[in-house]
Formats: sequence, C-alpha cells, structure tokens
Amino acid sequence: MNIELRTMEIDDYDLVYALWKESEGLMLNADDSRECVIHFLERNPALSFVALDQGKLVGAALCGHDGRHGYIHNLAVKKNHRKQGIGKSLVGRCMFELIKLGIHRCHLYVESGNQDGISFWKKLGWEQRVEMISMSQPLRS
Ligand SMILES: CC(C)(COP(=O)(O)OP(=O)(O)OC[C@H]1O[C@@H](n2cnc3c(N)ncnc32)[C@H](O)[C@@H]1OP(=O)(O)O)[C@@H](O)C(=O)NCCC(=O)NCCS
Repeated sequence: MNIELRTMEIDDYDLVYALWKESEGLMLNADDSRECVIHFLERNPALSFVALDQGKLVGAALCGHDGRHGYIHNLAVKKNHRKQGIGKSLVGRCMFELIKLGIHRCHLYVESGNQDGISFWKKLGWEQRVEMISMSQPLRS
C-alpha cells in the first residue's frame, strides 16, 4: 500500500468529519465543527495531517501547540486501513513538525473507556499521567 501524508486543509473537513463520526472511541462535540476546525487550522498552520491511499482519505490527525506544549486531537484511521502503520505515521509526522517548532512535549486526551486507543498510544511509548486530572470550564462572552 502506498500511503501519502499531506497537510490537512479545510477542504478536507467533510471527509475528515465523516471519518471521525465512524471512528469508535472519539467523543465529538461543538469543538469539532467546521468553524472551530477552520480556527484551529489557521492558528496551527501545517501541523495537522491527512493520510491518503491513492488519493482517498483514510486517516487524519489534528495537531497544534500553545507555545509550550503540543496537542494531538482526533487521530483516526479508517477501519479497513488499520494496523498498517498509518496512525503511527500520522503521529510521527505531527511530532516531527512540533519538534521543528521547538516544542518538546505533546499531550493528548483519550476517552477513559477507549481501551484500544489507550493501548495504541502506550504501544507508541506514550505514558498515562496518573498524577494529574483534566479540568475544564466553558467560556462565555
Ligand atoms: C487508534 C488508531 C488511530 C490506530 O491506527 P492504526 O493505523 O491502526 O495504528 P498503527 O497501525 O500505526 O499501529 C501502530 C502500532 O500500534 C499497534 N496498535 C494499533 N492499534 C492497537 C490496539 N488497538 N491495541 C494495541 N496495539 C495497537 C500496532 O500493532 C502497531 O504496533 P507495531 O508498531 O509494533 O507494529 C485506530 O485504531 C483508530 O482510528 N481508532 C479509532 C479512533 C481512536 O480511538 N483514536 C485514538 C484516540 S485519540
């Protein structure tokens, strides 16, 4: 299989969103809307990637940073393309680009029930931060 990785563009949104929707383990919300993804890609240019098999979108990863740490969101690979190294390649490319920008730690969120996702990240060497919990609050204008 000849998989090509390229930068995610907003024109990919419909196919990427369809992939996210069919991917178990991802919790989609308002932050995954087209408007929010436009904002995210503009703020984090050339850090998010799609994987293409003969031009057909089979994987995607959103990646950004806040100047201190990188973040990877919504990594997904089409079911019939899994276990062929595509997820690992997408993550590797995101991290390579973060390192080039001087970012030396990357975080991500995995739904606590997503055992397959957690196993994948652990296989890639990521460590669960048991000493921390995640907290958040919606911001209203
Ligand atoms: C998680 C996901 C992106 C992995 O993509 P993938 O292309 O199948 O992963 P890769 O083929 O690159 O796997 C890389 C390594 O992880 C291993 N791996 C992949 N899925 C695994 C799993 N469920 N459990 C354990 N190991 C796994 C592979 O065997 C491979 O190991 P190797 O390097 O020793 O050969 C894919 O299963 C997916 O889209 N899941 C649904 C969405 C999701 O849960 N995303 C992650 C949460 S943010």
